[in-house]
Amino acid sequence: MIHLKTDEEIELLRENNILVSKTLAEVGRHIRPGVTTLELDRIAEEFIRAHGAVPAFLGYEGYPASLCISVNEQVVHGIPSSKCVLKEGDIVSVDCGTFMKGFVGDSAYTFAVGEVSEDVRQLMQVTKEALYKGTAQAKAGNRVGDVSAAVQEYSESFGYGVVRELEGHGLGRKMHEDPGVPNYGARGRGPLLREGMVICIEPMITMGTKAVVFERDGWTVRTRDRKPAAHYEFAVAIRKSGPDVLTDFSIIEQAINN
Ligand code: MF3
Ligand code: CO
Repeated sequence: MIHLKTDEEIELLRENNILVSKTLAEVGRHIRPGVTTLELDRIAEEFIRAHGAVPAFLGYEGYPASLCISVNEQVVHGIPSSKCVLKEGDIVSVDCGTFMKGFVGDSAYTFAVGEVSEDVRQLMQVTKEALYKGTAQAKAGNRVGDVSAAVQEYSESFGYGVVRELEGHGLGRKMHEDPGVPNYGARGRGPLLREGMVICIEPMITMGTKAVVFERDGWTVRTRDRKPAAHYEFAVAIRKSGPDVLTDFSIIEQAINN
């Protein structure tokens, strides 16, 4: 069942997603060679709580941390660990969720650790651009398949893999609401997008095969060929005026570009 949101509810979702953006910016400021992913998780949890919210991932279906931090060939749901030390040239996808005032925020961003190779830089750029292409289709009267196809076509035009096993979702009082938002599909197919819907669009794009493996820790998803993957996620409200992005990557990009 799809829950349509009022303007007031959309503002509460925006508050959450801005806090997620600020948290990702704070995490981004600490990403450098030598830092552990557990240290980043602690920074995020403290930041979220200091701003009157609760980490939405912590305890979700038993998940043990506040962030998902996925390094290089890890696609999503990497568990922060004191044993995971970041090094120059890594890429690190950080997924963050908050809960406050009855609503959830959920967004993700892929960061470079120092200088990364040109091909990895392009994977990151294309994945972010795929998110923007999908977002442009998130308007009333379109269907979920229009978003999905835009993400898929753009990503595959670079020869990249589009992960099939995981998808975006509706966002509201719960982190995962209907409809599912796959990163592949056909234009004109799938659920109709209507004013008041809020969806998370989250391309997970790989440099090699689209096939993934679920690790035995019960969470981590990695590429089968161990080539790198990138992941960016927006929360978007469908408004009369068009797509209203509730996440703000400019907060993150200002933090890491200095
Ligand atoms: N942010 C993820 C998503 O977009 C969910 C994280 S899984 C959790 O669906 F268990 F960590 F919460
Ligand atoms: Co999500």
